[in-house]
Amino acid sequence: MQLQNKRCVITGAASGIGAAIAQLFAREGALLVLTDCNGSKLDNMVTECQQSGAQCCGVVADVGEVSGATAAVDHCLALYGSIDVLVNNAGMLTQARCTDLTLDMWEKMMDVDLRSVFLATQRALPSMLAQRSGRIINIASQLGIKGGAELCHYSAAKAGVIGFTKSLALEVSASNVLVNAIAPGPIETPLIDGINHAWKEAKSAELPLGRFGKAFEIAPTALLLASEPGGNLFVGQTLGPNSGDVMP
Ligand SMILES: NC(=O)c1ccc[n+]([C@@H]2O[C@H](COP(=O)([O-])OP(=O)(O)OC[C@H]3O[C@@H](n4cnc5c(N)ncnc54)[C@H](O)[C@@H]3O)[C@@H](O)[C@H]2O)c1
Repeated sequence: MQLQNKRCVITGAASGIGAAIAQLFAREGALLVLTDCNGSKLDNMVTECQQSGAQCCGVVADVGEVSGATAAVDHCLALYGSIDVLVNNAGMLTQARCTDLTLDMWEKMMDVDLRSVFLATQRALPSMLAQRSGRIINIASQLGIKGGAELCHYSAAKAGVIGFTKSLALEVSASNVLVNAIAPGPIETPLIDGINHAWKEAKSAELPLGRFGKAFEIAPTALLLASEPGGNLFVGQTLGPNSGDVMP
């Protein structure tokens, strides 16, 4: 029970990595507020976490909207009076060569994958700073480090998440608010369903580990960063559970 009674918000918690983090945090005793734009999948995940004994509620919201990005943090503050852990996980993926990338695609990506991280974090910080305790965990991507063809917007957003993480960590670590990122490699989730099979086979073969990861293999990294004493000394780091694809 490493998160007993810790008040935790997880965005994008209805599927994939966010769902796996929610399931693990529930088993570790957290008090959960989960948010996602997919209401029916979110309901299922809330029920699943409750069935494993956790206090858990869901907030249906689009983190790409300004009000949606802060909705779950607001709910957590109203319900529990404060917040201990914020996992900024919600994300989307589209692909286009830079010459074909529309301004709409660029802006949507920035709103969902980057601006939401800033907005939710900014809303959570006053409580964390006042109680001199908090953990913020931002799910970036290794593509924010190495880049990816046809993914200029996604890579730029995720590089932004990593830069935001480092800068904020410098601002708030003296108040015992620890800010870190996780930059997963390719993980088998619905996010990459649209990518063609041949590319996935070739990509798996080039990975030192020879395979993609699974969402449940990322969740323990989030638990490490959220927990004490495991996470106590991580400040502005970007951890890389990535099958060996990137070795910074
Ligand atoms: N799967 C991978 O290979 C991989 C690799 C590196 C990083 N990531 C990152 O991990 C995070 C989780 O991705 P995943 O692979 O679990 O994908 P996923 O598609 O399984 O889950 C993403 C969740 O975010 C939600 N979401 C998307 N847009 C939203 C919005 N505007 N408002 C609220 N919720 C929204 C979706 O409904 C979904 O439940 C993302 O930030 C993604 O960029 C994924």
